[in-house]
Amino acid sequence: MKTLLVIGIGAGDPDYLTLQAVKALNRVDVFFLMDKGPAKHKLLDLRREICQRYIVDRTYRFVEADSPERQRGDQAYAATVEDLNLAKQATFERLINEQLSDGQCGGFLVWGDPALYDSTVRILQAILEAGRCAPFEFEVIPGITSVQALAARHKVPLNSIGGSLEITTGRRLAAGQVGDADSVVVMLDAEDAYRQVGDPDTRIYWGAYVGTPDEILIEGRLADVADDIERTRKAARKANGWIMDTYLLRKPR
Ligand SMILES: C[S@@+](CC[C@H](N)C(=O)[O-])C[C@H]1O[C@@H](n2cnc3c(N)ncnc32)[C@H](O)[C@@H]1O
Repeated sequence: MKTLLVIGIGAGDPDYLTLQAVKALNRVDVFFLMDKGPAKHKLLDLRREICQRYIVDRTYRFVEADSPERQRGDQAYAATVEDLNLAKQATFERLINEQLSDGQCGGFLVWGDPALYDSTVRILQAILEAGRCAPFEFEVIPGITSVQALAARHKVPLNSIGGSLEITTGRRLAAGQVGDADSVVVMLDAEDAYRQVGDPDTRIYWGAYVGTPDEILIEGRLADVADDIERTRKAARKANGWIMDTYLLRKPR
């Protein structure tokens, strides 16, 4: 039987790895590396650094595969994500069939935590259901999400006392599709969606590249800091070629 480990590696700082993740790394024979886009090299280097740092007295190898990209255009967002996941499923199936022998252990190093805006677990479940690979076992090892890292770096709790927390996307915030939680974390925001928030007294705790040497943090009333965030974000994206940012919005009492 083959085994697959989906290992959350935390959202940036190699020190975010949990002891459970370190133990899991030391069971893996083949790591599948799937990053894409302009951040690809930095994120791949970080994964290699993590393996170098935490794996002792064990031989392992990396297999890199080009991760399919989502089609951008007129199609509905959910449909393009579904197509993307089907393409990823085909890639994963090929990797598992061709690169892993019976009795070996394969590892996927997932940014942050595999349960949050990541499709690896969903895809492995779909592969088992499709039955085109020999059956395998898989385990999920949780990691520190960018949400937790953001809250820690700003030294702020995610929820107000007894309040609810919503975690959503920039796309949904921009479309006004948020609930009535007094704390909202926004991820995957390509378009400065915090600009759409009506109440200028809302507080924003914004962070880019959190936990990495490029980290940038800005905090304040939206009315006071929105321009600064937009400027900083634009400049950082230009300088690095990519940006990874998250923010917490806290409605005023
Ligand atoms: C595809 S999601 C993956 C989330 C990841 N699984 C996690 O647990 O944080 C990518 C989004 O996570 C957020 N993100 C991930 N790492 C980040 C970091 N180090 N700093 C700020 N935001 C980050 C950004 O909103 C980015 O667009």
